[in-house]
Amino acid sequence: SSVTIPPPECMLRPLEVPFRYLFGPGPSNVPPRILAAGGRAIIGHLHPEMYEIMNDIKKGIQYAFQTQNNMTIAMSGSGHAAMECAIFNTVEPGESVLVAVNGIWGERVAEIAERMGANVHIMVKAPGGIFSNEEIEKALAKHKPVLFFLTHGESSAGLAHPVDGIGDLCRKHNTLFLVDTVASLGASPIFMDQQNIDILYTGSQKALNAPPGTAPISFNERACQKMFNRKTKPVSYLFDMAHLSNYWGNDGQPARLFGPVSGFQCLSRQYPSWRHHREVAGYLWKGLEDMGIKLFIQNKDLRLPSVTTIVIPEGYNWREMLQYMMKHHNMEMTGGLGPSTGMVMRVGLMGYNCQKTNADMVLAALADALKNCKKSKA
Ligand code: GLV
Repeated sequence: SSVTIPPPECMLRPLEVPFRYLFGPGPSNVPPRILAAGGRAIIGHLHPEMYEIMNDIKKGIQYAFQTQNNMTIAMSGSGHAAMECAIFNTVEPGESVLVAVNGIWGERVAEIAERMGANVHIMVKAPGGIFSNEEIEKALAKHKPVLFFLTHGESSAGLAHPVDGIGDLCRKHNTLFLVDTVASLGASPIFMDQQNIDILYTGSQKALNAPPGTAPISFNERACQKMFNRKTKPVSYLFDMAHLSNYWGNDGQPARLFGPVSGFQCLSRQYPSWRHHREVAGYLWKGLEDMGIKLFIQNKDLRLPSVTTIVIPEGYNWREMLQYMMKHHNMEMTGGLGPSTGMVMRVGLMGYNCQKTNADMVLAALADALKNCKKSKA
C-alpha cells in the first residue's frame, strides 16, 4: 500500500479565528482567565494534579448546584452527554418515564428515552408554557414513572420554569426528579438539595463561561440507589456512571475512563453569579421595552436571565435582522430553536458577557437592524 491521500496543507497554516460577540444562547465568550487555564501544559489524566483539578471542579459544581452530593462529577461532552447519562443510568428498558415538553429540551429527552426503550409519556405545552404542580402530580399518579424530567432553563423559549414543590411530589410518587439547567445554571437560582432534585446537570459553555465540551452532573443518594441496583447495563459504556464514578476516584479501583484535560482545567475555574445575571438582564429587558420590543415571556419572574427571547417585530424577517447584526456589528444573536423557530429571536448575555456595556451594544445593534431591515411593502 502507499499513501494516496496527501497531507492537507491547512494543517501547517496558523489557525485564524475571528473575534465575535457571542450574544446568543451559547457558547458565550470565555474570559481570558479561563482561556488561560485551558492553555496551560497538558498533564496526564490520571496525574495527582489532575485529581486536584477534578476536586476543584467537584467543589465548584457542589457550590453552583447547592448540593452536598458526593456523586458530583463532570463528563466529556456537551449538555447532551449529561442528558443521555442521566437517562441511560436511571432508566431501564420498559420502565415508565414522564417528560414535560414546553420547548426543545423536553422533546429531546423524550426521544432519547424512547431510543433506549423506555415507555415514554409526555405532557405538552406551547413553548414557554408552565406546568402547575397539580398537573404534574396528576400525571405522576397516572403514569407512575421511575423518572420525571423538567427543563429549568428552557433556552428555546427564554423561560425559567419554577421548581419548588415538584421534588416533594416526585418523592411521594416514588419517582426520580431530573432537572436540566444547561441554559440556566449560574444565572438563575437552583437549590438541588433543598428542592429535592435527584439528578441535575448543566453544560460548561453558558453562564459557567468555560469552553464547550464538559458537562457537570450530580446524583443524590436516591438516584444512586436506583442506578447502581439495575438489572441491565446502561446502553453506553462511556456514559455508564459505574465507570465515570470510578474515574472520579469513588471506588479506589484503577481508572477505566479518561478525562478531557484542558476542558477540565477550564471548568475548574468557572465562577457563576446569580445577582450579576439578574441585574444585567433587568437592564436589558427595560432597554428592549423602552425601544418598543416585546418580550416573549411576559412575567418577569419567569424569564431566564441568561437567554432573553423577543417577539419577532412585525414587518421584519428575523433571518435578515440576524445576518445584518452579524455583518455590521460582528454580533451573534439567534432565532428560535425547535418549536420556537419563527416565533422569537434570542439574546444571551452570560457569564463574562453579562455586562451593561454589552447590553447597550445589543440594544444599539437591534435599533440599527430595525432601522435598516424593514421589509418593503410589496
Ligand atoms: C442551545 O442551547 C440553544 O438554546 O440554542
